[in-house]
Amino acid sequence: MPIRPSIPRPVLAGLLLVATGAALAATEDAPQDGRPWLLRLFPNIAPATQPAYLEECGSCHLAYPPGVLPAASWDRILAPESLADHYGDDTSLPDDLVAELRTYLMTNAADRSARIRERAFAVPDPAGSDTELPRITATPYFIRKHHRIPGSLVTDNPEVGSFSQCNHCHIGAEAGIFDERLVEIPGFGRWKD
Ligand code: HEC
Ligand code: HEC
Repeated sequence: MPIRPSIPRPVLAGLLLVATGAALAATEDAPQDGRPWLLRLFPNIAPATQPAYLEECGSCHLAYPPGVLPAASWDRILAPESLADHYGDDTSLPDDLVAELRTYLMTNAADRSARIRERAFAVPDPAGSDTELPRITATPYFIRKHHRIPGSLVTDNPEVGSFSQCNHCHIGAEAGIFDERLVEIPGFGRWKD
């Protein structure tokens, strides 16, 4: 195991922001495993960048990277009737704005991506129904990666709330860094296999 430098959270957040500039310039996915600590600061999922999307879809939870759901799921989530009952909230928006968000999300969706980590999210929730909206947290890949984390650290943890709050544990989420070695669960600490 590599030595884990112990860096205070705010300092690390600053470092991640600095790293984002360089990381965004990288067009290829960085190697996923066994890479040196600094290289892990490269995003393995492209972060959301479109201003209207960040503004409209980033206030209640992370503005999820477009590459964590397939295009058909984004399309369904952005239907007017879905926005009127968005997992229990009314998030209705003007038609022209929705059209802009739809183009952005569908163009960059998981099933249209060349990134390995995003392709993994292209397989939708197999139990997806007509009544429930699709969820990132119900995709087989998400479940495979998170099923060992006990509920006491998530839904029963007021500082996390639910698995939908990616950035409460993935401290680099806003920069697209979801590397399992850069996870800090509030009140629990760094996750080790
Ligand atoms: C008014 C608050 C609010 C806004 C604004 C909002 N959402 Fe949500 N969103 C929620 C809530 C609440 C949930 C359910 C979270 C949970 O189950 O813990 C959710 C869940 C989601 C999920 C599923 C996450 C999962 O669990 O896999 C997606 C995808 C999503 N939102 C996309 C969007 C998009 C796209 C927009 C912009 C059009 C948006 N949200 C705007 C409140 C909001
Ligand atoms: C309660 C904390 C928590 C939340 C919330 C959470 N994750 Fe995770 N995530 C983890 C942990 C811990 C791992 C590593 C699991 C393992 O390998 O044992 C992980 C692993 C991952 C991985 C695989 C990383 C790798 O290096 O293989 C991805 C991708 C990921 N999460 C995406 C997400 C997304 C997207 C969300 C929000 C929809 C999210 N996570 C929400 C804790 C969390």
